[in-house]
Amino acid sequence: MAQLQSRPAASRRSFLRSVGLTGGAGAMFATMGALGLAPTAQAAQREQPYRAPGPGDFTLTGRAAAKVVVVGGGIAGLTAAYELGKAGYDCTVLEARDRAGGRNFTVRGGDTTVDLYGNRQTARFTAGQYMNAGPARIPQWMVTLDYCRELGVPVEVFTNSNADAYLYNESAGMTAPVRYRTAKADVYGYVSELLAKATDKGALDAELTSADRERLMEFLKDWGELGDTLTYEGGERRGYSVVPAAAGTPGVLLGDVPAASEVFASGIGRYFSFEFGFDQAMLMFQPVGGMDRIPRALTKAIGAHRVRTGAAVTKITDTGGGVTVTYTQGGRTRAVDADYCVAALPPNILAKIPHNLGSGVQSALEAITPSSAGKIGLEYRSRWWELDHRIYGGITETDLDVTHIWHPSYGFHGERGVVIGYYNYGTDADAYAQLTPKERERRAVAAGVKIYGDAYRTELASSFSHHWRQTPHLEAAWHSTPGGPDHVRYRPLNEPAGRVHFAGDWLSYTDAWQHGAFTSARRAVTALHARVLSS
Ligand code: PHE
Repeated sequence: MAQLQSRPAASRRSFLRSVGLTGGAGAMFATMGALGLAPTAQAAQREQPYRAPGPGDFTLTGRAAAKVVVVGGGIAGLTAAYELGKAGYDCTVLEARDRAGGRNFTVRGGDTTVDLYGNRQTARFTAGQYMNAGPARIPQWMVTLDYCRELGVPVEVFTNSNADAYLYNESAGMTAPVRYRTAKADVYGYVSELLAKATDKGALDAELTSADRERLMEFLKDWGELGDTLTYEGGERRGYSVVPAAAGTPGVLLGDVPAASEVFASGIGRYFSFEFGFDQAMLMFQPVGGMDRIPRALTKAIGAHRVRTGAAVTKITDTGGGVTVTYTQGGRTRAVDADYCVAALPPNILAKIPHNLGSGVQSALEAITPSSAGKIGLEYRSRWWELDHRIYGGITETDLDVTHIWHPSYGFHGERGVVIGYYNYGTDADAYAQLTPKERERRAVAAGVKIYGDAYRTELASSFSHHWRQTPHLEAAWHSTPGGPDHVRYRPLNEPAGRVHFAGDWLSYTDAWQHGAFTSARRAVTALHARVLSS
């Protein structure tokens, strides 16, 4: 995303920075509008809802659906073919990898990958177990859910935040993890105490009327569970060491409440704002059975015969009257001639493919930089996190190089499960990528043992790791588009270059989300179809 900053809480800002993304879409869009870089609020309000091309659009126009070659079979490319197909366009999708979906990649037992360093892995996950190596969570507002509905892909809740998951900051001296609920009780408790005391002493009198003051005090007492003397003394929000049960078992509250300075020193508060994020707030969703249900359903709707896998594009030529795309498949060079092309490859890959689309296109592509991210799936023989830790889904946050540990949001109470042992970015992801898959596993497990104990090692059945920057034909988890997608520098990509239209999440305000790919594809399809209808 662009470098323009929104006004997020420090944690969100640093989170976004750490993943190579900055600026919330809404805030950034508003800022850009103010700078005259983006369509104004009025223009945005006037924007028509998406209308899919239909065969009836050609009635009485004397025009007909054209032939379109789609370069790249990720979500943007598949969506372009799917939407154009609704009006009878003759689409061919060229996909370099052996499966469509792009970064939407679900790993199951038997799946094999080879990374750019030559590491070959075959997943040994047992039946029904999988990891989403790429996209894995969908907010309710994203168009991705509309596509799931339209394509008949069932969805279920993805647990993005869980009061019983852990926080662990080793660098702050923590020797044991703390549960979110405990951390929140303590941080909110002490922040409320301090603010209540300051308010009570009159420190905020210049800011508040006496009615405001009263209401603020009411709020703080409740928010921080403060006692009569406006002090935080812990309570049941922190949790129990023995949970309340039948008569005779009132429960035992968790041990000593740490002092305020200990709580602040632990740095645990930095994780809370994540769940306020417009794109990360619960509820979140996932397709039942794996994220790749989406590209599979798209491929089926398009017609599998139209999607050529193992087809690596070598040249894109605008011939004036059409487009010729050459590619290699099974060692042979082939070509597709079409009326139009939708180029839906990542910009860093597109930039390496010879074309005659102009230097403006090339320099725009080169201005967009790839980012790293990786994940490891750890299959366990038992669901010890449910049995021993009472954690059902959700994310444990750490300051270790594994960054995030995800508990599976499917298969609860089953025999086995796949934990995401790391989901990390940038230099952490690249450092793991440089290890052999076995070493990645060893390092990730050693980190997890610090938080969860020995079961993290002893119950492990197998692992599979995936790093996007090191994945052939993709070479990025997502991208950084300095200035945002509407910066004048990217105009050659937001307009057709001759007969080539561009699409991808990287040309959206929601890069690193399928929503960006879907909406960008819709934008390209709308422009292409309007052109065909009027030319
Ligand atoms: N969509 C990805 C995820 O949810 C990457 C991302 C992370 C995008 C954080 C924006 C913010 O993990």
